[in-house]
Amino acid sequence: MVISSRRLASIRPTWNLSLLLILVMMMIRVHGQSSTSGFISIDCGNSGTYNDSITGIQYHSDDGFVEGGLSYKISAKLMADAPSEQSKTLRSFPDGSRNCYTLPSIIGKKYLLRAVFNYGNYDGLNRTLDGSPFLFGLHIGVNFWDTMNLTDGNPTLTEWKEVLTVATDNAMSVCLINLGSGTPFVSALELRPLLDAMYPFVNTSVSVSHFRRVRFGKGNEYITRYPMDPYDRFWEQWQYNSYPLINLNTSSQVEILPGNDYFNVPMAIFQEAMTLDPSYTSMWLTMEKNNVDSKSVRLLPIFHFAEINGSNPNRRFDIYNAGDLLHRGFSPSLLQANSLYDSGQFLYNGDAFYTLNKTRGSDLPPLINAFEIYSLIRMENFTAASEDVSYMKQVKKHYNLTRIKWNGDPCSPREYSWEGLTCDYSKSNQNPRIVEVNLSTSGLKGGLTISFMNMVSLENLDLSHNNLTGGIPDYPIKSIKVLNLSYNQLDGPIPNSILQRYQAGLLDLRLEGNPVCSKIKDTYCSNKKNTKSTMVIAVIVPVVMVSLLAVMCTLWALRWKGRSGDNEDYAMYEEETPLHIDIRRFTYAELKHITNNFHSIVGKGGFGTVYHGTMENGDEVAVKVLMETSIAESTDFLPEVQTLSKVHHKNLVTLQGYCQNTKCLALVYDFMPRGNLQQLLREGDDYSLNWEQRLHIALDSAQGLEYLHESCTPSIVHRDIKTANILLDKNLVGIIADFGLSRAFNDAHTHISTVAAGTLGYLDPEYHATFQLTIKTDVYSFGIVLLEIITGQPPVLMGPQTYHLPNWVRQKIAKGSIQDIVDKRLLDQYDSSSLQSVVELAMNCVGSAAMDRPTMTEVVSRLKVLLPTVLSEKQYASASSRCTNSMDAETRRQFRLLISERNEESSFHSGYTGGMPELNLLSGR
Ligand SMILES: *[C@@H]1O[C@H](CO)[C@@H](O)[C@H](O)[C@H]1NC(C)=O
Ligand SMILES: *[C@@H]1O[C@H](CO)[C@@H](O)[C@H](O)[C@H]1NC(C)=O
Ligand SMILES: *[C@@H]1O[C@H](CO)[C@@H](O)[C@H](O)[C@H]1NC(C)=O
Ligand SMILES: *[C@@H]1O[C@H](CO)[C@@H](O)[C@H](O)[C@H]1NC(C)=O
Ligand SMILES: *[C@@H]1O[C@H](CO)[C@@H](O)[C@H](O)[C@H]1NC(C)=O
Ligand SMILES: *[C@@H]1O[C@H](CO)[C@@H](O)[C@H](O)[C@H]1NC(C)=O
Ligand SMILES: *[C@@H]1O[C@H](CO)[C@@H](O)[C@H](O)[C@H]1NC(C)=O
Repeated sequence: MVISSRRLASIRPTWNLSLLLILVMMMIRVHGQSSTSGFISIDCGNSGTYNDSITGIQYHSDDGFVEGGLSYKISAKLMADAPSEQSKTLRSFPDGSRNCYTLPSIIGKKYLLRAVFNYGNYDGLNRTLDGSPFLFGLHIGVNFWDTMNLTDGNPTLTEWKEVLTVATDNAMSVCLINLGSGTPFVSALELRPLLDAMYPFVNTSVSVSHFRRVRFGKGNEYITRYPMDPYDRFWEQWQYNSYPLINLNTSSQVEILPGNDYFNVPMAIFQEAMTLDPSYTSMWLTMEKNNVDSKSVRLLPIFHFAEINGSNPNRRFDIYNAGDLLHRGFSPSLLQANSLYDSGQFLYNGDAFYTLNKTRGSDLPPLINAFEIYSLIRMENFTAASEDVSYMKQVKKHYNLTRIKWNGDPCSPREYSWEGLTCDYSKSNQNPRIVEVNLSTSGLKGGLTISFMNMVSLENLDLSHNNLTGGIPDYPIKSIKVLNLSYNQLDGPIPNSILQRYQAGLLDLRLEGNPVCSKIKDTYCSNKKNTKSTMVIAVIVPVVMVSLLAVMCTLWALRWKGRSGDNEDYAMYEEETPLHIDIRRFTYAELKHITNNFHSIVGKGGFGTVYHGTMENGDEVAVKVLMETSIAESTDFLPEVQTLSKVHHKNLVTLQGYCQNTKCLALVYDFMPRGNLQQLLREGDDYSLNWEQRLHIALDSAQGLEYLHESCTPSIVHRDIKTANILLDKNLVGIIADFGLSRAFNDAHTHISTVAAGTLGYLDPEYHATFQLTIKTDVYSFGIVLLEIITGQPPVLMGPQTYHLPNWVRQKIAKGSIQDIVDKRLLDQYDSSSLQSVVELAMNCVGSAAMDRPTMTEVVSRLKVLLPTVLSEKQYASASSRCTNSMDAETRRQFRLLISERNEESSFHSGYTGGMPELNLLSGR
């Protein structure tokens, strides 16, 4: 079973770091301690700026961060007992299904974002207590974050939700979603920058939502936050302290080793701990949460330990999650912080229920200092293309549009897209684009803004039945095909650029019902709809043809005048009979423009040079140019492009277009921002892929190959599978490049053929003996790729002795253990049973007889078994305790009572359900 061999990452960096680094770390820590720089703290519904009396943090009103909503104060009755200044006011959103706050952020930076909710019966409706459901949704950007469930809640409760996320833009939006079960509101929003190294499992595609964050020991605040925690995390104080629980504390320094900056837990938290009377062996921690079904979320626990019990004691324990072993025989280091987490492994488990069991040889029972659990949020939805967003915002401002629905992202998620817009979501791995804007009858006044003309994917613009004045700006239209301006007050002249497009049939223009039409009798001014254009052309062809041809000739002449250097290019473009290929054909001049005169080289390969380019619509592309004219004569090239243009798979790079003429032979692909696998495996010292990411990339590329082999007829043999040809998109999805290109240049060009047939280290020995090309040739190369993924080593190891990677692996395994071959940068954070399986699979793939190698279909299914690590969804009976993120005055009072009584255990087993964590103890006697 997978669970038993899973390992947790223990962060214990070694001491061999330079003094300089230590000094730098200390400076950061000292600096971080006192600074609120980068904090954004918003007291929603409040109108002024003030410094909070407890934390000293400066809070601002929400002016300028949000458009809709109404501000309220909590009920007068509850005002006196308000737990904080921020809980006294709030903003509520009775209108609109989505209302968003927009907070400034730094692109690529990691943040903690907290939303605080204090109902306080602000509307006098006793809404939390009226028996009906009271809940609303929260989005972080365009992705679902959490549901705020206030049903049956105490109106004085302060609840909060936190998310750790990476900003993907220079603004971050937080949206409240009306689910039809009560009016959404929010009391405060707090954005706190984190160090990039912190919470390493958080990245642009994975955010985490706070589930619990607890500190143990005596403590005297219910919540520990800023300034003790420079990142202003909320640490709840664990509330059960009675026998046999024992609190420990120390005044000695607890060392946080330099380099251990994943969590930066404040030292004061490590200086306190909870343990048991030594006659007990087992500590049970139930971290359930009120109103949250822990079965529906995937959780990642993080344990923080430091031995603070005087002399070096013998303390060792096993850690279980609902009966599944997470870590065996952990022993906290004396006065040194250890954080235990399972690098990016989110577990499905019925209960957020953990057991720390003393091991046989241990003298002392378990101890714990602090604990965090997060649930997984996949950031899978894309925001609309950012330039579309900014043009739409200009439009909104220009026409002073106050539409409730024009809030947050214009396109995403789909069900909240802006009214009147149509977005194109067809490219699932790209940002949606706005293709249609309908602002008919919207009371628009003033001139026609050029923002519309600038939108490169906008095709259909309807501004009819408004009060637009002036003329159509003389500004080049990028992509608009239908422009409906009928029934406005336009009286200015119609620019030639527009008329020419109209006459060339490129633009469907409608202007009827405008003053300008009083002088013009053209079809665009008649109220006949233009949809019958094909009929019109059919009937009037003999008449119109001549003039149309004339116009077109003029246009072409203008277009090509003064570009004699490109005439050849153009001629070439036209003269060949184009094949039936759906993708775009580029001219040399276009490629020159797209690549900014072949300015930036992103790669060089056997076939030529790859340049970075930007298309007219802003899409980034990689342009692979093959300059040799001899190649241009290749008769295989076009049929090959035709084949490739039909190959569509999420793990194969998309061919956007090609160029073929005497000046160039080139292929235009999607650009992959994360480079290739070879670079990621071998070049970065500071960043390394974790085990799960590596398995995902292996599976991605296996699926791409499987598609080429099994779903294409005839099968396509890649012939040059290697880590350098596995590209990574921004979400680290593996994408195979250069597929089939090798076939384009076959043996007629011998100097290329040798390259095309493969790369040193990846060559199938049987192919070289027989020259029988089969799909198993690729399987061999894929085996080498797998070995590189496991070991981080190149296919051929140079050293005192030169090894071929499979032989090196065989030898290492024969001499020692399988662990010795693993990439050191994985820091032992991998699951050894899955390692075993992947090594076996890789060795099967590199079998010398092609017949014995698995097919890619088999490879895919064997890799799939290892991913995702969905653990058993066992259910455990639990003394279900509930916990909210709550800190109401009433609870605190109750607790003080409870603690001061602290006589019978029964008081917390039975009597207490008011929102506190529960700890169960099991006697080991
Ligand atoms: C409030 O805090 C800010 C820094 O956070 C400080 O610059 C300012 O002087 C403080 N104002 C008052 C009135 O204390
Ligand atoms: C809300 O509850 C209070 C006290 O429980 C009661 O006095 C008041 O009438 C209630 N208000 C409404 C609108 O039900
Ligand atoms: C992404 O958008 C789709 C469609 O709008 C929605 O159903 C889905 O819940 C969204 N995913 C997340 C993680 O928010
Ligand atoms: C909200 O909380 C109430 C009360 O705890 C619970 O009965 C209900 O199932 C929860 N609703 C959702 C959608 O979680
Ligand atoms: C922990 O120890 C207790 C008492 O020795 C035992 O009953 C329990 O099964 C152990 N838990 C696990 C998960 O092994
Ligand atoms: C924009 O609209 C709002 C409300 O509809 C109005 O108060 C404001 O004066 C308008 N501003 C301009 C510049 O037209
Ligand atoms: C345009 O403005 C005039 C007055 O300026 C008004 O009477 C008319 O209703 C407006 N038309 C539209 C379509 O808004």
